[in-house]
Amino acid sequence: MKKAKAKVVITAGPTREHLDPVRFLSNPSTGRMGFAIAKAAVERGFEVTLIAGPVALKTPKGVKRIDVVSAREMCAAAVEEAKAADVFIATAAVADWRPAKCAARKLKKDEMSSVLKLVRNPDILKTVNATVKRKGNSDLKLVGFAAETGNPICEAARKCREKGLEFIVANDVTAKGAGFGASTNRVVILDKFGNRKALALMSKLAIGRRIMSLV
Ligand code: PMT
Repeated sequence: MKKAKAKVVITAGPTREHLDPVRFLSNPSTGRMGFAIAKAAVERGFEVTLIAGPVALKTPKGVKRIDVVSAREMCAAAVEEAKAADVFIATAAVADWRPAKCAARKLKKDEMSSVLKLVRNPDILKTVNATVKRKGNSDLKLVGFAAETGNPICEAARKCREKGLEFIVANDVTAKGAGFGASTNRVVILDKFGNRKALALMSKLAIGRRIMSLV
């Protein structure tokens, strides 16, 4: 009998946290890193679901895409899709905070305060770990990214531990040719045992292929 394909779920792009229909908090992620991994995963024969924040990229061939806007929407889709997944890879730059209130119509300037009250968003990796991996899908492998400014190693190791990851892909988003928007990236891969491998500057697709070799 033919074996069903292994399933990988990937988050990509930014999230937007609206304070009214025309204003939001966000970040410069373009989704290129996550889309490149999705392409590499299809090449490897995985069934691929890509949960994408607002980005302007074409869906790679053979990928199921779910579009979301906010962190809470991304989290709900991630939990749902991870239930039947073998690997969950979080490349998305998720907004950690959102405005406490979102108005249904455009706010007038004099209706707004100079102080914006924020509330925490869920941590998607931690939520998938707690509600999917520890509650039924115990074989699920979690992979994260760490966007840092400066030496990414210490922070990435902490995130790897705290989020229950197999490994984490750390990038210094201030380095030339790396991070947000670039077609290339320079990363260090740290695993849960403390091993680490620094990769040279290469295309995001080449990094995606390395990551898929590891999973
Ligand atoms: O999209 P590009 O323009 O190609 O840019 C690629 C990238 C810079 C966005 C990518 O390489 C990258 O570094 N992604 C991770 C961005 C990030 O949010 O890193 P972080 O260190 O804040 O988060 C650590 C991990 O936790 C990440 O896997 C993140 O997806 C996840 N996370 C973060 C916050 C949150 N509320 N929930 C999460 O699951």
